[in-house]
Amino acid sequence: RVAPEPFPGGRPVQVVAHRGASEDVPEHTLAAYRKAIEDGADALECDVRLTADGELVCVHDWRVNRTSNGRGAVSSLELADLAALDFGSWKGQDADAEAPERFDPGERSRVLTLRRLLELVAETDRRVELAIETKHPTRWAGQVEERLLDLLAEHGLDRPPPDGPAPVRVMSFSARSLRRVRAWAPQLPTVQLMQYVSPRYRDGRLPAGVAVAGPSMRIVRANPGYVSRVHRAGHAVHVWTVDRPEDVELCARLGVDAIITNRPRQVREQLGR
Ligand code: G3P
Ligand code: CA
Repeated sequence: RVAPEPFPGGRPVQVVAHRGASEDVPEHTLAAYRKAIEDGADALECDVRLTADGELVCVHDWRVNRTSNGRGAVSSLELADLAALDFGSWKGQDADAEAPERFDPGERSRVLTLRRLLELVAETDRRVELAIETKHPTRWAGQVEERLLDLLAEHGLDRPPPDGPAPVRVMSFSARSLRRVRAWAPQLPTVQLMQYVSPRYRDGRLPAGVAVAGPSMRIVRANPGYVSRVHRAGHAVHVWTVDRPEDVELCARLGVDAIITNRPRQVREQLGR
């Protein structure tokens, strides 16, 4: 067990469930998010893509091939096509996977819409934040962000309460996508995901208006000093994807603000929570 360092934001390090409790339960399913909430996750990470008929669904890959029994690009399928697919069985063979019978078959295998995920969070009797990642935003020229912000507004999640932190943040590898979000909803915090740190920003600064740095664990391992540079520049640091105990320990020691992990229960236990 490692005791987490205090961090500039004044909140303890957040444990964020990456695609739900996706080590145990098929990623991005309602069952995966229910399990993450049960496991005590502080926030839920999810990737969103637009279907051919303009619905935002929680799917990571551009195609459905890996995580369902169907084939094809999410963007060329309608929600009804996706709803007919099984998004759970691919994980059933895994010896370590959470026993399938524990979950309602629909919740464990049906495609999850962002709308349903927002409802799940609203139904939960404790605070659970959302870290929503826009995928493939260039293809749709603003439609992903537009639809996302409409849905958030519908659920009253498009702005922080006057006296507390925002319940939702929008993440992306695409700086352009985040610029759109800031232009249309400047009150929502944005997280710049990074696979490498561009030379311009090695000193810990971020592109104008971005609130949070989202470096990969590989960046943090190779360059632990980056975390304090970002903090000195006044930003929070959310690291992905942190599953190995030694990585959790390093993140806690460095005082990162959020640990994004496929195994929220184990990370919480390691942090002594
Ligand atoms: O949380 C950020 C992380 O999810 C980014 O990578 O490929 O898992 O979406 P990916
Ligand atoms: Ca993601």
